[in-house]
Amino acid sequence: MNFVEFHNDELPRRIQAGNGRLAAVGTVGLAGIAFEVDGASYTYLPGPDGVEVVAGDERAACVVAMSAVSWGEFVEQMRTVPSLLYSGMLSPERGDVELLLRWEQAIRALHHGLPVFVPTELDLRDKDGGRLDIEQVFPADVGAGELGLFIREAGFAVVRGVFSADEIAVLRADADSAVAAARQGDRRSWWARSAEGETRLCRVTYANLSYPAIAAICDDPRVRRLVAAFDDSLLPGPDRLDGIAIIIKNPDIADGLSDLPWHVDCGMGGHALLCPVVQVSVLLEPANLDTGTLKFLAGSHRFACHTPAAQEEAGLPVVTVAGEPGDLLLHLGDTMHAAPAPLGRGSMRRSLVTSFYQPAVLDVIEAGCGFNDVLLSNDDGHVDNLADVVRGTPSEKL
Ligand SMILES: [Fe+2]
Repeated sequence: MNFVEFHNDELPRRIQAGNGRLAAVGTVGLAGIAFEVDGASYTYLPGPDGVEVVAGDERAACVVAMSAVSWGEFVEQMRTVPSLLYSGMLSPERGDVELLLRWEQAIRALHHGLPVFVPTELDLRDKDGGRLDIEQVFPADVGAGELGLFIREAGFAVVRGVFSADEIAVLRADADSAVAAARQGDRRSWWARSAEGETRLCRVTYANLSYPAIAAICDDPRVRRLVAAFDDSLLPGPDRLDGIAIIIKNPDIADGLSDLPWHVDCGMGGHALLCPVVQVSVLLEPANLDTGTLKFLAGSHRFACHTPAAQEEAGLPVVTVAGEPGDLLLHLGDTMHAAPAPLGRGSMRRSLVTSFYQPAVLDVIEAGCGFNDVLLSNDDGHVDNLADVVRGTPSEKL
């Protein structure tokens, strides 16, 4: 979409239609941010209609320049601010680019009408119209209607005991082999660094391409039934978008993208194409406070992404999930979630993650490609934290 026409014609229409009001709560306390494309610039300011958009950049505290192509991908929800930063597609012209991250949810509300997250507007209901119990977990034989409703409301679900101990033993053996075979720089693995400075493997992508037992989980009828409870048109895409990944939680990681902060899985882009996508995690080892839990912000998939600060989590519908080997965690890719650091210093915990997409995704994304590819910019497979990218000082390479 043409940058100037969008700001002169289309955006004022969207603001008048109500997007400005949706964005307003996300602009409180923010200074002006300006975009510059091909010499033209527009500044977004908190204003009486939620957001005031003015030509020029004189009133902006931060100015970011990008190409017309990058702008198009951003405004079409195919690239996010972190994706633009990781891929070097943004040029900060003035001020601190972190301001753009703070504006991002208001901009999504402004551009697309996706509301800024307001906890008091969450109204999650069960099938009888009562308040949804977001802490509930489900047995492997849960009814499709019950599970589908819960996922649509909460954006995630925990299903106990789907895979047997014998099946998990086979998957663990394959995971052992995949972990042993991973090498820094193979572009199929992510690496981080411990507090002692040692390199740690934190993810193996496309594990299904080498290990048949792992490959079989995306066609397992139990898994497919649970995914279909949300949407029976979704399909696996095991040869693209990272395939089936092994996520490895190591204790004591000090540097690198291992203990994932609050994020959405479309955080590197593709929301307009990918979502809703169902992610399925199969626990291979127990998940608990010592080995690392997962946290979900219930109902957040209906809002522009919101990153909870640590001090506000207690007041939000955050569910901390523990589990045992064989349990499945399902979540929508645009539900905010996090994988905090293990508190213990014992053995690692692993899970297999496979995704189920709308059929159109498989027509557009080619085999071997995915939105997370921008994260593998370092030759050694070390994945930088976003904060390092924002500061423009990526971690010292190994
Ligand atoms: Fe995720």
